[in-house]
Amino acid sequence: MSAPPPARIAVYPGSFDPVTRGHEDLIRRSLAFADRVIVAVAVNVAKQALFTLEERVALMREAVRDPAVEVQSFDGLLVRFARQVGATVIVRGLRAVSDFEYEFQMALMNRTLAPGLETVFLVPAFDLTYISSSLVREVARFGGDVSELVHPAVQQALRRKFGL
Ligand code: PNS
Repeated sequence: MSAPPPARIAVYPGSFDPVTRGHEDLIRRSLAFADRVIVAVAVNVAKQALFTLEERVALMREAVRDPAVEVQSFDGLLVRFARQVGATVIVRGLRAVSDFEYEFQMALMNRTLAPGLETVFLVPAFDLTYISSSLVREVARFGGDVSELVHPAVQQALRRKFGL
C-alpha cells in the first residue's frame, strides 16, 4: 500500500488587530484546499496595535474553533515561519483593487525568498468585503455597533479596550 499524501498545510498570516468576520470567512474557505490552516499572528505590525500579541492570538482562538485550524504567533520573516511549519501555501485575502498593489509586491517578494511557496489570494463573501480591522477599531472606538462584523468575544474585548 502506498503512503498517504502529505497533509497540505496553508499559512494565513496577518496582524489580526482584531480578527473580523472577514478573516474567519477566509480561514473557512482555505479549508477547501488545505488539510490544516495555521493562522500566523504577526508579532510586529506596521502600525501601533490596539491589542497585544497575546490578546490577538487569544481572540483568534476564540473566534475560530476548528480542529483543522491552529493559531500561532510568528516573528521575523513569514517565509521562514512557513517553512518551519511545513506549509506550501500562503493565503491572503483580496477585498478590493486597493489591496492589490501591496499584496502583489508581498507575494513576489515572498516567492523570491522562498521559491515553491505559493501565495493564494481568496476573496471573502461579498457582504464581508468592506470589513477591515481598522474600520472595526474606529467604529468601536466611538461606540458604534460592530456585532455583525466580529465574533462576540471580539466585540466584548473592544468594549473593554475602549472602556464602553
Ligand atoms: O494583516 P497585515 O498587517 O496586512 O499582515 C501583514 C503581514 C504580517 C502578513 C506582513 O507584514 C508580513 O508577512 N510580515 C512578516 C515580515 C515579512 O516576512 N516581511 C516580508 C513580506 S514581503
